[in-house]
Amino acid sequence: MMRESDMHDTDRADRIWRHPVYQEHFLQLQKAEHTREFCRHTLAHFLDVARIAHIWNLEYGLGIPKDILYAAALLHDIGRYLQLSEGIPHDQASASLCARIMPECGFTPEEILRVQNAILHHRGHSPGSSLETSASQDPLFECLRRADKRSRNCFDCPAARECNWPADRRMHGICT
Ligand SMILES: [Fe+2]
Repeated sequence: MMRESDMHDTDRADRIWRHPVYQEHFLQLQKAEHTREFCRHTLAHFLDVARIAHIWNLEYGLGIPKDILYAAALLHDIGRYLQLSEGIPHDQASASLCARIMPECGFTPEEILRVQNAILHHRGHSPGSSLETSASQDPLFECLRRADKRSRNCFDCPAARECNWPADRRMHGICT
């Protein structure tokens, strides 16, 4: 049975989605990528990442609060418009936008720092690390990084031939 707390623990994530700074950058990004043939950064992508990460959170008993996962997923690529327009790497741009958005959505300074650090690590490669054994660093890092990759259906992508992602970064099947 759903607990009342389950129904409310994504309120802060909803506040991120409705935040004017978030909406401004989100809409700019949608316009900029409207005709992009490669991976786009839509709400569907952000929610795919959140939901995949939360499945693993439950499956592996990682204990990451649901709205922290959703915050990281919603925000991890939000700086991409600044990468396109100003050349700022999008992980850095997204992390700095967290500082403008998250305090007004009810997140504590410690939670904001946690999400920023996960975003700054989400493009990195962590050979050998796993969701279970990445406890030396925050498991949110690996959860976000892997969910971001897993969310892309490379095996069914019409632009796969032109894509510059290396083979080891691509998803080659539904459950690979
Ligand atoms: Fe992403």
